[in-house]
Amino acid sequence: MRIYLDNAATSWPKPDAVYRAVDEYQRSSGVAVGRGATRRGAELQRTVDRCRERAARLLGAESADRVIFTFNGTDGLNLALHGLISAGDHVVTSVMEHNSVLRPLRELKEQAGAQVSCIPADCSGLVDLDELRRAVTPRTRLVALIHASNVTGTIQPIEEAARIAHDAGALFLVDAAQTAGHLPIDVQEMGVDVLACSGHKGPLGPLGTGLVYIRPGVEKELRSLRQGGTGSQSEDDRQPESLPDKYESGNHNAPGIVGLDAALGWIEERGVESLRAHETERTDQLVAGLREIPGVHLHGPATSEMRTGVVSVTLDGFDPQDAAAVLDEHFGIEVRAGLHCAPRAHEALGTLERGGTVRLSVGAFTCEEDVKSALSALRELSGA
Ligand SMILES: Cc1ncc(COP(=O)(O)O)c(C=O)c1O
Repeated sequence: MRIYLDNAATSWPKPDAVYRAVDEYQRSSGVAVGRGATRRGAELQRTVDRCRERAARLLGAESADRVIFTFNGTDGLNLALHGLISAGDHVVTSVMEHNSVLRPLRELKEQAGAQVSCIPADCSGLVDLDELRRAVTPRTRLVALIHASNVTGTIQPIEEAARIAHDAGALFLVDAAQTAGHLPIDVQEMGVDVLACSGHKGPLGPLGTGLVYIRPGVEKELRSLRQGGTGSQSEDDRQPESLPDKYESGNHNAPGIVGLDAALGWIEERGVESLRAHETERTDQLVAGLREIPGVHLHGPATSEMRTGVVSVTLDGFDPQDAAAVLDEHFGIEVRAGLHCAPRAHEALGTLERGGTVRLSVGAFTCEEDVKSALSALRELSGA
């Protein structure tokens, strides 16, 4: 028996249509995207175009060419941060960020003299927008904010943060790794300039996929990090300026995109709202059960409207890594323990010193029995 509660790391299982699409592509096609005029090439191109259109609908983008395929969420965040920030620029971010934002910013600080301000969060993981108002200045180039925490699931007030960034004349970058496919997203309504997410988490695609949305006009300011073959304008040794080619050099992860296309088709049939409702139901069940177990401490928001399906706990008498190992070995329950690549978030929660938390994260395929089994295992661990 396998109970998978690590959907915040990557979603599993995927819809059957994803496995079928990848297998079919690998066995019967195997051609490269945009690199030949064969019938199979044209067929693959149609799938890639459809995937881009589906991704644009998932994110509320103006058009499909505003969506760039990347290899994961980190890849997209690096494109946004290294592509927008120049020597001496000021950037505001938060303590809730993942290392895929914190580390590029550290590098930009050390290598390019970027100035980085980091706003705090309360013990539920909610960032302080008054601090954001105080941190932005007319010199601020970018505000980079996580949409929902991968440690506590806390959903941040993105629209308000976008207004604060824009009022200061800054661009607004969102890390939607934990929300794309989990929560309805409309980049235009939210006022997002650049958004990066994984394709392999909430969007249910294979590992090795990611997406970036770029608001019209922002491409003039966003440098490409990699230059190379795009299968277009090949006579010119300059990188194309048009989207998506400007940011998509080298061969695509075709099996990944084919799988992502099938996943996004599956999501469209159900609707993100209904996936959100399912995940909220499972999360509420989990949180209600955890509250009843003596010695289990919940970290994060009090209500389900404020959180995604990510739940962090600490257990009296257990190191988080040990608890996760026991859950796996004795109960077949896969969770993730430790700092979740977000050390400053754990500092804010007060869980850094004790080695982080045990994180349980539900997904589109988590059923009632999975949650019941996790609760009964944790009850046994706590000795209740
Ligand atoms: C909040 C957050 N941002 C960024 C990432 C990086 O995404 P990827 O693993 O697709 O590179 C993750 C992955 O765990 C995440 O949780």
